Amino acid sequence: MSHADIYTRPADIDADTLANLGPLRALAGVWRGVGGVDLNPGPEGARTSPFEETVELQPIDPQTNGPQLFYGLRYHSHMTKPGEIGTYHGQLGYWLWEPATGLIIHSFTIPRGQVVLAEGRAAADATTFEVKATRGTTRDGICSTGFLEAAFRTDEFHMTVTANPDGGWSYFQDTVMQIRDRAEPFHHTDRNTLSLVSPPTPNPLARGAR
Ligand code: HEM
Repeated sequence: MSHADIYTRPADIDADTLANLGPLRALAGVWRGVGGVDLNPGPEGARTSPFEETVELQPIDPQTNGPQLFYGLRYHSHMTKPGEIGTYHGQLGYWLWEPATGLIIHSFTIPRGQVVLAEGRAAADATTFEVKATRGTTRDGICSTGFLEAAFRTDEFHMTVTANPDGGWSYFQDTVMQIRDRAEPFHHTDRNTLSLVSPPTPNPLARGAR
């Protein structure tokens, strides 16, 4: 890519993000899943906990990076223990799709001082896809605060998303961490199935065009 090319902008930008989300279209909306299962690290070893989740994924306006064009979703998930109100876990971030290459980017932060940039690839009509991140790489990655680096060093993150025939979707994620004074890596896994609560709100540019 030449110097001039990094400043070019895509010519054809469709204002309607919902029509250009490829495999991420299945995720757009507000969702609820009450059958979540979390395997997390406790002092005596692995603990299994059920959880409930509300997740909101709303279309954002098309985004450009020089010649790249992304369509995407702004994302917030909130998990509680069954029947409780207080936050058990939360994630805030974006899902992005590049139609020209099939690139999927999942970037999010969790409120324990940790950020993840995960990537994957899929066809526009894929009904399942995977993203992953590895600590220490510069292209994708995981960054954690000093305490986590020392005590729960998080080395890998994998997430598989599957669109279900009933219109819902499911995920399985595996967060691999090296816990201080433990010989083997710990697989902190989470899974859930989401059902639609309400459809997505079109992105600002699409609303303006109507
Ligand atoms: C549905 C998703 C998730 C749920 C429900 C969840 C829940 C939990 C729970 C209950 C713990 C035990 C310690 C505590 O109570 O604070 C924990 C620990 C931890 N989680 Fe998660 N987690 C999820 C996803 C993730 C992801 C995606 C990451 C990072 C990429 C992550 C990183 C960590 C780390 C580093 C710890 C150890 C920190 C500590 O115990 O102080 N978790 N998680």
